[in-house]
Amino acid sequence: MSDTTHGDTGHGHGHEVEPITYTQSDERGRILLGLDEHRSRRTDTSQRAAKRAERQIAGMFTFAAICFVAAIAAYLLVPKHDIVWVPVLGNVSASNLSLGGLIGLGTLLIGVGAIQWARALMPDEEVIQERHELRGSDEAREDTIEQFRRGAQESGFMSRPIIRRSLLGAMALFPLPIAFLLGDLGTAPDDKLRHTAWGNKPRTRILNQGSGQMVRPEDLAVGGLINAIPVGLTELEEQEGSQNARAKAAIILVRMNPDEIKSTQGPNWDYEGIVAYSKICTHVGCPISLYQQRTHSLLCPCHQSTFDLSDSGRAVFGPAARHMPQLQLDVDSEGYLVAVGDFAEPVGPSFWERG
Ligand code: FES
Repeated sequence: MSDTTHGDTGHGHGHEVEPITYTQSDERGRILLGLDEHRSRRTDTSQRAAKRAERQIAGMFTFAAICFVAAIAAYLLVPKHDIVWVPVLGNVSASNLSLGGLIGLGTLLIGVGAIQWARALMPDEEVIQERHELRGSDEAREDTIEQFRRGAQESGFMSRPIIRRSLLGAMALFPLPIAFLLGDLGTAPDDKLRHTAWGNKPRTRILNQGSGQMVRPEDLAVGGLINAIPVGLTELEEQEGSQNARAKAAIILVRMNPDEIKSTQGPNWDYEGIVAYSKICTHVGCPISLYQQRTHSLLCPCHQSTFDLSDSGRAVFGPAARHMPQLQLDVDSEGYLVAVGDFAEPVGPSFWERG
């Protein structure tokens, strides 16, 4: 299952932990998101480096203490109405400047010292901690059922049939007004969510959202990423008076080596290693642009769903259950990159009529 294993056994965490495994592939040979090998810090391997870091950190804390004492002195000694000129800030109160500067510097030094302490000297172990079982104990479950039973008895729910039946009748009718209100939600979303601006006409050119230029294949180096939209989208938005079309048509273009692509969509969905995917996460619709070239992974910042862009956008990690919808690419007679047609499936999160 794994290629390499490295790391220490954690101690004193209260729960059982095991050394971390740097997994490269699962039992079925599928590539999973890799972790970099653990590297020891210099301060772990050299006593001298550890001592030096210790002195640096202690120096920062000591200097912070001096700043705070100096701030008290400044409060007492610097005249309140003296004005000094400072580049960028202009004329400022000397008292405020010295107080703010010294307290700010002291606080900064404590923060930097604490970060350096954690980075250089605190234990550097990577461990896996198993989650505890979610199911309650048999005893706790029986106790809960017993409490419900006692509550039902004490409330008289079972011994007062008139109250019970009238309450159940009211509860049964309660959802009906809500069901009527659902009629105000408008038409079923089916068609609107199935089509994007890429399907308005075949072979639509692609616009770099940052530069506003139409994209050519040579604009994208291997490992590069471009946020893009269809040409003509801005005019469409003006017509519609909303940005709904943009929300559905936003894509990312990524270039990788053509022989790294294992797309199952078809033989020609990429163009010379350039692939285009919807930018909208299939979990709950966050926009994504975090791309890791080494693993071809697209990472959603919202709940960490990860998609393998070399493999049809397959969801390899996190809560997303579906792959990222892909656009088929080509170039036109003038050498511009074009989308052959619309996405083959609706973009964004799942909905009930997806089919
Ligand atoms: S929206 Fe992307 S993982 Fe939840």
